[in-house]
Amino acid sequence: MKFAVSNIFAFLSAAALAAVQATPLISSRDVYAPPITYPHTDSVWLVGQTHTVTWNATNPPAQITNPIGTILLRKSNLTTPVIMQANFALVSGKATVKVPWVQDGDDYQLVLFGDSGNFSPYFTIKYRNS
Ligand SMILES: *[C@@H]1O[C@H](CO)[C@@H](O)[C@H](O)[C@H]1NC(C)=O
Ligand SMILES: *[C@@H]1O[C@H](CO)[C@@H](O)[C@H](O)[C@H]1NC(C)=O
Repeated sequence: MKFAVSNIFAFLSAAALAAVQATPLISSRDVYAPPITYPHTDSVWLVGQTHTVTWNATNPPAQITNPIGTILLRKSNLTTPVIMQANFALVSGKATVKVPWVQDGDDYQLVLFGDSGNFSPYFTIKYRNS
């Protein structure tokens, strides 16, 4: 009996940990997630270039809990600690980023945070355009 109870506890804490890991930065009360329109699936960015990320900021809700945006880099479906830009107004619909020195890959994404997190399509970052 004691064995069964401790198994249940182990299962519950593993499930709780999995839930926390699945949603590290997204709070359930947040709702405003404007879709990223650039970069898109055909975008190829070179290391060191400057690009203007855009999102559809038409019709934001009257009350935005957190109107200040942050953009992080994702690779292979994982959000990295790399901050591409921060401290901009979400309603502006755009933010300028500089492409960091990273490995070539076609599985990069950006995640736009404010009221909620929102992933861009996959796009490519390369060191040289060859
Ligand atoms: C932006 O969003 C608005 C409303 O949410 C929609 O009507 C419009 O078509 C969108 N524009 C683009 C370029 O996706
Ligand atoms: C990323 O997620 C997509 C959609 O869930 C999946 O098809 C793809 O295989 C994933 N890629 C990696 C590297 O896990």
